[in-house]
Amino acid sequence: MKTYKIAVIPGDGIGPEVVAEGLKVLQAAAAATGMKYELVNFDFGGERYLRTGEALPPGALDELRGFDAIYLGAVGHPEVKAGILEQGLLLALRFGLDQYINLRPIKLYAGVWTPVKDKGPADIDFVVVRENTECLYIGSGGFVHKGTPDEVAVQEMVYTRKGTERCIRFAYELTRKRNRGRKLTLCDKSNVLTYGHDLWQRVFREVGADYPDIEQDHAYVDATCMWMVKNPEWFDVIVTCNMFGDIITDLGAMIQGGMGIAASGNLNPEGVSMFEPIHGSAPKYAGQNKANPLAAISAAQMMAEHLGEAETAQRMERAIQSVLAGGKIPTMSATGGLPTSEIGDLVAAAASGGNTVGG
Ligand code: IPM
Ligand code: MG
Repeated sequence: MKTYKIAVIPGDGIGPEVVAEGLKVLQAAAAATGMKYELVNFDFGGERYLRTGEALPPGALDELRGFDAIYLGAVGHPEVKAGILEQGLLLALRFGLDQYINLRPIKLYAGVWTPVKDKGPADIDFVVVRENTECLYIGSGGFVHKGTPDEVAVQEMVYTRKGTERCIRFAYELTRKRNRGRKLTLCDKSNVLTYGHDLWQRVFREVGADYPDIEQDHAYVDATCMWMVKNPEWFDVIVTCNMFGDIITDLGAMIQGGMGIAASGNLNPEGVSMFEPIHGSAPKYAGQNKANPLAAISAAQMMAEHLGEAETAQRMERAIQSVLAGGKIPTMSATGGLPTSEIGDLVAAAASGGNTVGG
């Protein structure tokens, strides 16, 4: 039996607290299934940056490539200027490890409140496939006449054929595998972004020819936001660029109950992938045992599934489901209304219980 090597980057703010709970639940499930792993901790984040001036130390990427997966808490520190850790740590990991997919399930669990009236778990169950290495995120651009009235600022939105194609192909494959509505929605702004999203349109149709069993759907990004609220049941899988994916998945997190439950995977299907809650470091709740760890627990669940540990993943999923269905956790917002460690204990107990064994 394989022993997985998992790199853990607890990060800043509430990161360490929620990661501890995710690992608690993973351990409970793994003990029941026999899944084996070892954890190696990395202290990357704001504190280390303030001490050393480095967001990601040299050699870190090479070291991380030797792991089977990375489990990340959150990055962002009140004393570090916005952008430094985001660019220098989080995006540096995503880009450096070529994690070209950001997978974000939008799933409303039974027992969880949604602000969308008259919609339930059967209506809100789709996945956003967000391209994760291109678009406005590549950091290309510059200033001319900075600080003067004649200043020009340019931020370039860059797409490659290769990057677009591998993302869209992944999304078609996932739609087939999910086998839910067999519908893939391309979310873009091709009516205005007549170069970049023209490429997305063409690639979407070309790659789609290999997937005659998948319905090709399209929605402009503004309309996507509208439908996500009005008719979320129309979506099965949405594929979109990095920037739009960032925006629509915060909306997605809200309709699935809140930031406290939304998880994600930064995937490199040919390399090492990284799993994280989509929320930030929430410094104002740090160290108070208040943060909702469910998003981090779900991210650990996605990690187990990605590693091919289906039984462990299923145990974790059912544990989350049963605790939520029991109505014990008052809210899915940043704080869960129960102590962080108590939520972790509840889910861990359910994950180790005999009643969650699946076939
Ligand atoms: C996310 C976050 C990041 C992003 C930030 C922290 C750079 O908002 O994971 O969605 O924009 O990708
Ligand atoms: Mg975001």
